[in-house]
Amino acid sequence: MLGRHVYQEIYDALQELEIGILVNVAAVHYDHPQYFVLIPLLRLLQILDENVSAATVMTYQLLPQMLERQRGAVINVCSQISCLPPTPLLSAYTASMVYLRSLSECLQLESRRRGVIVQTLLPGFVASSTCRPTFFTPSPTTYVRHALATLGVASITCGYWPHSIQSWLTSCLPQWLWVWVVSLLFRRHRLQSITLAKEQGVQAWRCFYSFLVKTTKHSWTSV
Ligand SMILES: NC(=O)c1ccc[n+]([C@@H]2O[C@H](COP(=O)([O-])OP(=O)(O)OC[C@H]3O[C@@H](n4cnc5c(N)ncnc54)[C@H](OP(=O)(O)O)[C@@H]3O)[C@@H](O)[C@H]2O)c1
Repeated sequence: MLGRHVYQEIYDALQELEIGILVNVAAVHYDHPQYFVLIPLLRLLQILDENVSAATVMTYQLLPQMLERQRGAVINVCSQISCLPPTPLLSAYTASMVYLRSLSECLQLESRRRGVIVQTLLPGFVASSTCRPTFFTPSPTTYVRHALATLGVASITCGYWPHSIQSWLTSCLPQWLWVWVVSLLFRRHRLQSITLAKEQGVQAWRCFYSFLVKTTKHSWTSV
């Protein structure tokens, strides 16, 4: 977990450097959709530390030197989810993204006349190493290429035009329909993930137990 002393150390180290671009991209997600009261406290604090505090403090520390030089850019990677109607079972993550989007938009208004760009990126799904990229779920490389092309052009953007289409389509849905569909999907996803984790836990215990039995037998026969 990030401690306050870390920020002072980072601040001291950065004062010597001329930083032109800050990208606030680090974020903590949920392992699976979860009810707010069931999120482990440590994970909740991580979400606040990394998604909210770290982005805020890093911007606070680096923006002054950019404003002084009258050039530079801060790119805040938020999420499309921050523009959607309330998303149950992702409460703390969604709230952290709404915070970052709001901060980013305000800072853009404060800084634009002083030559510094503060861009808000609102990506949809981006493929991870475990899933194949598709048209609507680009690889990180494709997403970054598209997103960088928008720097200096759009201050708030999905960064990838198929995501903008998704965003527009979702915004056309009535809020009740969105909440109903998302609740249904996320509740199902939550139960599946919990069942899978339990099965994997049982499997791991079985492996561990048979390993223990084999090792004990082996030690007895060697004796
Ligand atoms: N992936 C998506 O589909 C998606 C969709 C919408 C929005 N986003 C947003 O895009 C951003 C990146 O998401 P992602 O899916 O790429 O997440 P990710 O794969 O988990 O990557 C997060 C990055 O943050 C770094 N990080 C996390 N905790 C850190 C810490 N305590 N100190 C230093 N670095 C830390 C990680 O470093 P390591 O590599 O060293 O772990 C990693 O480079 C997030 O802001 C997320 O909200 C992602």
